Amino acid sequence: MSIEEKILKTLAELQVNEAAAVEALFAEVRRFLDEDAQDPRWKSEPPQTLRNRWLARNNSILALVDENWLKSAPKELKPVAGREFNRLKKEAQAKAVLQLEPLAIHPQRAKERSGVERNALAVDDLTLPGVRRALGSFHPVTHVRREIEDIFLGLGFAIEDGPEIESVYYNFDALNIPESHPSRDDWDTLYVDAQTVLRTHTSPVQVRAMERQGAPLYILIPGLCYRRDNPDSTHSPVFHQIEGLAVDTHITFADLKGTLDFFARKFFGEKTRTSFHPSFFPFTEPSGEVAISCIFCGGEGCRVCKHGGWIEVMGCGMVHPEVLRHGGIDPQRYSGWAFGLGVERYAMMKYGIDDIQLFYQSDVRFLEQF
Ligand code: PHE
Repeated sequence: MSIEEKILKTLAELQVNEAAAVEALFAEVRRFLDEDAQDPRWKSEPPQTLRNRWLARNNSILALVDENWLKSAPKELKPVAGREFNRLKKEAQAKAVLQLEPLAIHPQRAKERSGVERNALAVDDLTLPGVRRALGSFHPVTHVRREIEDIFLGLGFAIEDGPEIESVYYNFDALNIPESHPSRDDWDTLYVDAQTVLRTHTSPVQVRAMERQGAPLYILIPGLCYRRDNPDSTHSPVFHQIEGLAVDTHITFADLKGTLDFFARKFFGEKTRTSFHPSFFPFTEPSGEVAISCIFCGGEGCRVCKHGGWIEVMGCGMVHPEVLRHGGIDPQRYSGWAFGLGVERYAMMKYGIDDIQLFYQSDVRFLEQF
């Protein structure tokens, strides 16, 4: 009689009347399980098939064994039948797990993979530890953004934000960027419609905040910006900026220099020196670029600073009177400074990352290092 026939009969019908015979019967089933698990048809059919055949709730081999051999066993054979049944079930579950993982993943790994497999192994042993999900960590860009925010919060600045989908007015006109300016070109800017853009910088929030709060104003504006740049190792069409803005009576370029010098030493280390070069932005006058002494070679010249000893880290300047006026602030009474920096660039310098694309690829092997 085959096993498949035997499991349709009770122990009494099989004339199995003593413990040793029960053990022998179960040993026979386990041998059958070993052979069955080798059957090549499980490789070509959906992988759950072995599991269904042995472990499904209804009509599987174990369900029939449970019904015909265990539940209906005479009292004196119950303990041995129960023990043998559990052993068989565990072996069937282990085989089914391997079947689910055809690449023979280690059972411990398989156990971590999913609740189904975990239950298969743990169902009889409640003392097994639970599945531990790895804790996430902050994205490196988030780390750096928070670090920069903390430095300015310590100086009394407040965090401010504004919309990423912005009007052409706030993104350009209010910032004194004329219609003929190249940044307004379709090529540089992502237009939603004729009056609406994905903001190309965080500067539009300057005017929004001036309108809302008036002067004095000390704010930091972190946020996403969008440009029609092709992705490469230093460009991304979506990136983070942080804007700083101070407006008050008697604000001078010396305040701007002092603040940014303090910031650079806090962020990059006390030995860092800053240097200011003239530049141009329509919304600041005068405008400047800030460079720091190379944090990799200390200013001696290396590959990172292209042997110049300095690395450019932000644009800045004194807020243009026209911008203050657009924000409803009297430029006769108030003056201000502003700066804008790219957060990814700071994260790349801080962590020695040479490809900006790594920030957006969601590769856990990269992200779990921070
Ligand atoms: N908005 C400028 C940019 O995106 C940076 C900047 C901000 C420059 C504030 C000066 C003042 O390049």
